[in-house]
Parts: sequence; structure tokens; C-alpha cells
Amino acid sequence: MDSLAVFCTVGLLFGGLYWFVCVLGSAEQKGKRAVDISGGSISAEKIQDKYKQYWSFFRRPKEIEKDENVPHFVDTFYNLVTDIYEWGWGQSFHFSPSVPGKSHRDATRLHEEMAVDVINVKPGEKILDVGCGVGGPMRAIAAHSRAKVVGITINEYQVNRARLHNKKAGLESLCEVVCGNFLQMPFPDCSFDGAYSIEATCHAPQLEDVYAEIFRVLKPGTMYVSYEWVTTGKFRADDPEHVEIIQGIERGDALPGLRSYADIAKTARKVGFEVVREKDLAAPPAQPWWTRLKMGRIAYWRNHIVIRALAAFGVAPKGTVDVHEMLFRTADHLTRGGETGIFSPMHMILCRKPENTPSKS
Ligand SMILES: C[S@@+](CC[C@H](N)C(=O)[O-])C[C@H]1O[C@@H](n2cnc3c(N)ncnc32)[C@H](O)[C@@H]1O
Repeated sequence: MDSLAVFCTVGLLFGGLYWFVCVLGSAEQKGKRAVDISGGSISAEKIQDKYKQYWSFFRRPKEIEKDENVPHFVDTFYNLVTDIYEWGWGQSFHFSPSVPGKSHRDATRLHEEMAVDVINVKPGEKILDVGCGVGGPMRAIAAHSRAKVVGITINEYQVNRARLHNKKAGLESLCEVVCGNFLQMPFPDCSFDGAYSIEATCHAPQLEDVYAEIFRVLKPGTMYVSYEWVTTGKFRADDPEHVEIIQGIERGDALPGLRSYADIAKTARKVGFEVVREKDLAAPPAQPWWTRLKMGRIAYWRNHIVIRALAAFGVAPKGTVDVHEMLFRTADHLTRGGETGIFSPMHMILCRKPENTPSKS
């Protein structure tokens, strides 16, 4: 009887541990298991140093104001966070409004499908995903529209992850991933039938530069939609709490500086786009996008225990504990940004490159 009790206890312990580490962060759904968390392209022993280097950018704000430093700073950030995002969040690195009666996964997919629906793309046409992450949106959009999607990301580790996921999903023929800077894209003029960016162009030091590049690679008459991170009309620069929230979001998300919603359409027009529609998708009656972060607090503590334990046993690199803590603080700033209404991660702008745009050559 005693040995049976020991057997059951050990079984329960191991079963519980397996559930805690593997099932609750299901790799099938999300892409990563806790035991596989790495620092992207950064070797394990350098993660702590790179994390410190990341923060040093904010001690020298002039450094991130210098445009040429920003892509490197953003690349470092995504090396540090990509695996943790995939494990804790999934393969789509963006928010979406909650949809009553739908899971987060379904709400995410609907938000992605809307991006391709509004740019009127036909099966077989070629569209660009600007800042594609590990390709969650790209796969949903390719499967939904049957268009060929080319994604670009600055982070080489994400390119490899995205290619792996594309292959697993059987979407290799529709999805292609390129490593590159969206401020100087390796694509010819007028080569795409449409483009979208989901929560990515916020990383550009100057929005005008990335919009001008997107304008250049689109064929005349085609459309571009972007979900932009912005401060809303409720933001007050003289309110210390507002400033603290916005700075927290910038620091925890590798942003060179959040823009006002009022700058987005102006910038699109400046580079030559016609603005077809502009709408804050986070504004009521849309349901809150930040509930997922709030509900995730228990999951965060569970994940943090797992990461600490794995780091203590030398399975996860040591610096990942710091990175995870940073993301938790950021989740709080994002939640407060949503609750106060001063921040939106989904200010949608829909643009068209005019039909009569003269070709440069
Ligand atoms: C928040 S993630 C969003 C990823 C993807 N759109 C999604 O929703 O899953 C931002 C993406 O922008 C990419 N990015 C940021 N700056 C970039 C740059 N200068 N050139 C290319 N990609 C960049 C990052 O590498 C990352 O993949």
C-alpha cells in the first residue's frame, strides 16, 4: 500500500510538471515549448549582456533618435523576446479586440483576415507583409485569400521560425519570408499587388521613411493597410501618469517614440498615398483588446516560475528571467494604456497608391 502511494505521488508530480511546462504552453498551438526558450540568434551566455545593452539605449535617448541605430536596437529586442512571445502568446505578435463568444485565437484570425479583405486582393496576387514576425498573420492571410504573401522582418531568427511554421502548415508555396530592413526593402519598384503591416511600422524611427518604401514597391492603383500603435486624442503630454504609461510602452517594446494618431494620415498623404479610410479599431463599441493581458496575469506567474526553474537548472539561459520580467511590466503599461484610452495598438489606415503615379525610371 505504501509503495502504491509513493508510485501515485511520483506519477502525479511528474504528470503535473509535464502539464505545467508542456501542455499549458502548448507548442502545437503556439510554436514553442518552455524548455526550448532561447535568445534567438544571441548565444545563451550573451543574453544578459544584450539585455543590458538594450536598456542602455534608453539611458542615451540620443542613440535611439539616430535613425541608423534603430534597426539594430529592434533586432536585439526581437532576439530576446521572440521565443517568449511564441511560448506565452502564440505565433501572431499583435492584439485584437475581444469578440464576444469567440476565443482569442479566433478573434486574432478575424483581425488578420480583415487586413487582407480591405485591400481587395485576388487569389494568386502577390502582397507584402511589412514586419512579419514569425508569420502568424501571413499564414492566416494566405490561407484566407489564396494570395502569395512575402513577409519581411529585420530579425533573422524570426525568418527561420516563420519558414519552419510555413512548412509545417503546408503553406510554403504561398508564403515567403525575407530578412531585411523595411526602410530599404530589397524589392523592385511597383512589384506588389497590395501590402499590409500589423503593429510593425511603429518601430520605424520616421514613419515617413517606411511609408515611402511601401509606396515605392506597390503597383499603381493597389492598396495598403496598416494597424498603427499611436497615442489617442485622450493623451495629455502634461499629465505625468500618461507620460509614465507611454514611456513604459516605448521602453518595453523597442519603440523609438510613439506617434500621435493625428500624424498617421498626414504622413501617408505626404509620401503620395490617397487615404481611403482611417479608424481606431480599439475605440468603443469595440471590445477591449487588453483583457487578454489582464487575464494573463496568472499565466504570467506560472510562466515566470517555469522560466526561473529552467534557468536555475541551466535549461533556459539566465537572462531570460530578466526579459520575462520586463515583458510583465510592459503588459501592465499596455493594460493601463488601454484602460485610460490614451493608447491604441490598432489605429487603422487604409491607403491607395494613385493609379496615375508616374514611374521613376
Ligand atoms: C510586434 S511585431 C509584429 C509582427 C507581425 N506583424 C505579427 O503581427 O505577428 C513587429 C515586427 O516588425 C519587425 N520590424 C521592426 N523593425 C523592422 C525593420 N526596420 N525592418 C523590418 N522589420 C522590422 C520586427 O522584426 C517584428 O517582426
